[in-house]
Amino acid sequence: MTRSRARARAAKAWAGRIATPTAPAVERFTGSLPVDRRLYPHDIAGSVAHARALVRARLLTRREGARLEAGLAAVRRELDRGRFRFLPSDEDIHMAIERRLVERLGSLGGKLHTGRSRNDQVALDLRLWLRAECDALDGAVRRLQQAIVALATRYRDAIMPGYTHLQRAQPILVAHHLLAYREMLARDRGRLRDCRARADELPLGAGALAGAGFPIDRRFVARQLGFRRVTANSLDAVADRDAAAEFLAAAAITAVHLSRLAEEIVLWASEEFGFVELPDAFATGSSMMPQKKNPDVAELVRGKAGRTIGALVALLTVLKGLPLAYNRDLQEDKPPLFDAATTLGESLDVLAALVPHLRFDTARMHAAADGLLLATDVADLLVERGLPFRRAHAITGALVRHCLATGTGLRELDAEVLRRHSPLLTPALVRQLTPARSVARRRVLGGTAPREVRRQLARASREAAT
Ligand code: ARG
Repeated sequence: MTRSRARARAAKAWAGRIATPTAPAVERFTGSLPVDRRLYPHDIAGSVAHARALVRARLLTRREGARLEAGLAAVRRELDRGRFRFLPSDEDIHMAIERRLVERLGSLGGKLHTGRSRNDQVALDLRLWLRAECDALDGAVRRLQQAIVALATRYRDAIMPGYTHLQRAQPILVAHHLLAYREMLARDRGRLRDCRARADELPLGAGALAGAGFPIDRRFVARQLGFRRVTANSLDAVADRDAAAEFLAAAAITAVHLSRLAEEIVLWASEEFGFVELPDAFATGSSMMPQKKNPDVAELVRGKAGRTIGALVALLTVLKGLPLAYNRDLQEDKPPLFDAATTLGESLDVLAALVPHLRFDTARMHAAADGLLLATDVADLLVERGLPFRRAHAITGALVRHCLATGTGLRELDAEVLRRHSPLLTPALVRQLTPARSVARRRVLGGTAPREVRRQLARASREAAT
């Protein structure tokens, strides 16, 4: 080997035990650097805290501790500026940083790993990353909520058909429909916060699996890194990836919510619905059909939900057969985790940018909310006049059949036809049926009546600010 090749294949940390150099194919196969290099700010923060704990335990002098911290800060600057030179023999970000520290500080660099294993180190880095990512995604979800609430406020008086089974069901306020998504996103934020709170435990000090063999003050390390608690069992600390699984579950559910919103945007933008006009900047054309304006952004948000669900399944599948404690399989936790976080963040951002530009065709939506979807209101009127609901339902059903057979609207039915169906029905009564009145009578808590939706909006605006 030439000198530079020898440097490129710097001695492995375990070269004492494993005599021959690692096969290049094995290096490539086992390495995780391209994936885990993004953990570097967390890895350095964890190492600084560990170095301080080593000083506190009198395993390092104060001067050694200070030099290690300065060395770590210098390595961090190299990484921040993209000046860090990775080597093919750098198996992962943890080994790369330690290798560089030893290059800078000599044998002192080799003292940092005292009482620490990559097993508790990577568990720590992952929790630090998860904490930050939960906060970042929570902010992104909040921004989408704010955009939805603003859109709902802009269209607070508009009426649209509400659907079940994708069949026109009853008139509702557009704002009411939009605020349903705000609720989903509020629960998503709650899940991210729950995940963060449970992840808020320091695993460092667990060592490889049995606990560090040195008097490391774990509570001190936890305080340094802002953790509320320390993990209670060292085996669990290095084997556990629950926080990652919870994060992916929260991400997958959020992605499903975004996918449902995206699906409605796709439907509403179709010529068949014609409810919404997509902003040109958020639509794409066809390479062949000149008239096309496609909702690709919404379609991709819908498609990317599949990837995020896949990430959750991938991680759970990695975990399900593992004996305690650390197994190298656990390295496969990061690709799905990072991919899901990036994908979800991008979906949230693009939707938050798109939503403010949606323009509803309120006249068309109002027209679609009129007609036979006022049938429930006819039944309700009969109930108010003393009929049992089942009876009212049957009478109204027959009336609807008559309307469909004769091409008559509910409001146009004449006295004779109405009387034949029920003596309680008069033209004056059915003429009062309108989408606006239908909406207004649904005043229950959480209902679609304007008064109630305004109350929802006020609460949503207050909460969206936090
Ligand atoms: N890159 C590894 C991971 O992400 C680090 C831990 C390796 N530990 C070990 N005992 N080989 O899991």
